[in-house]
Amino acid sequence: MVEGPSDFTVSIHYDRRLYEHDIAGSMAHVRMLARQGIIDEEEMGRIVDGLMEIREEISTGEFPWKPGLEDLHMNIESRLAEKIGSAAGKLHTARSRNDQIALDMRMYARQAIAGILGGLHGFREIIVDAAEAHADVVLPGYTHLQRGQPVLLAHHLLAYFEMLGRDVQRFQRAAEMADSMPLGSGAIGGSPYPLDRRSVASELGFSRISANSMDAVSDRDFVVDVLAASATCMMHLSRLSEELILWSSEEFGFVRLADAHTTGSSMMPQKRNPDYAELTRGRTGRVFGNLMALLTTLKGLPLTYNRDLQEDKEGLFDSVDTLLACLDVCAEMVATMTVDRGAMRAAADTASLLATDFADYLVAKRMPFRQAHGVVASMSRDAVSSGRSIKDLTLEELKGYSELFEGDVLGIDADSSIDDRKVEGGTARSQVEVAIVTARRSIEAGIEESTSAVGGRHSGEIDAYLRRFRSMGSAGRDS
Ligand code: ARG
Repeated sequence: MVEGPSDFTVSIHYDRRLYEHDIAGSMAHVRMLARQGIIDEEEMGRIVDGLMEIREEISTGEFPWKPGLEDLHMNIESRLAEKIGSAAGKLHTARSRNDQIALDMRMYARQAIAGILGGLHGFREIIVDAAEAHADVVLPGYTHLQRGQPVLLAHHLLAYFEMLGRDVQRFQRAAEMADSMPLGSGAIGGSPYPLDRRSVASELGFSRISANSMDAVSDRDFVVDVLAASATCMMHLSRLSEELILWSSEEFGFVRLADAHTTGSSMMPQKRNPDYAELTRGRTGRVFGNLMALLTTLKGLPLTYNRDLQEDKEGLFDSVDTLLACLDVCAEMVATMTVDRGAMRAAADTASLLATDFADYLVAKRMPFRQAHGVVASMSRDAVSSGRSIKDLTLEELKGYSELFEGDVLGIDADSSIDDRKVEGGTARSQVEVAIVTARRSIEAGIEESTSAVGGRHSGEIDAYLRRFRSMGSAGRDS
């Protein structure tokens, strides 16, 4: 849409999506101007009616956008003048586009965060459902992408529940940062009119007003906060995607992603490419980039408003849209994937995964861990050199390595290994059962916290995303 140098300053093709916030802000502003006797009631009524018509025109696609008018604010004001004549000129009394856009962006940020929080809570519910549905599925836990110890799939899944829980906190914090109403700051130094800023704040659902007009018109820290929280959250989704890509490969064969999340190759008919997971992983780079871009834009800016700040929008919109779409896709992948418990179990039954348990067995009989580690290492070496594993050694052979081995050592297997790890936060069945119950309980509390962080005005947004995620399916199929 932007073509020649004359269009260089135009932002209407992207800032138009702020229209509802811009109009709500304008209405609150003129109502306050009338209450304070700065404009008269009749003018205020005409302005509010005109703004309502404009909102309707925009939502039905009938609004005549004019790129020549540069941005959203000018388009709306000029349309208002067409509708109500010179009274339209009073809307901008005691206001500058500088504090106006600062307001719009804060309102948008709070609404966007509400949607993201709803998505995060919904996804966390799906993860708990999946953990519960696959409660007794065992797979290898990895370090260095080498099989390490047997763990419960539920424990593995709940690790993502924790990551997303930290994301919830980061977004709640970002919502609190955006909760400051900047109108009244004017272009730089405040306003000579007797404004009632606090009433505007409460009409718009803000709990605070900005304390310094110069900061208020030049601050985009809250945008940085949303971009940073989005980047971290995408990093988590990317790690999950990477695991689903590995797990659905022929090499692992741990899960089968739903047909909806794979595509065929145009050449190789056998292929089921995990495109949705790959694109989630791929889009993460863009979201990181948006954070860097804004920080770089901000770093050289003298106070106060500079036009550079217009560059805050596209990156923010892109990060929010991308994150919402990826949350959706990841939640649906987890809800609809089929787990191959046999393949997971087979990989976890590798005897070498039990080496630590053999060492721990000796430690339980008071052998120092370092020494036990050495004993088991030589057992493994010898077993491997005769084409076997430590699980194939007889009790007599074991006793040759240490007199401490007794009959019960033969009971060591993946299940005993898991159930031994019953420290708080460990993978033992008993611990994971507690973790599932705790997780479920914490979701409800988290939703309440989020609702208060974004303000009542946006709680509908949280509910809408929750409903959508709750309709995604049962999150539990094994084969
Ligand atoms: N389109 C501008 C932005 O997004 C709005 C504020 C413009 N203010 C100004 N004095 N030119 O930042």
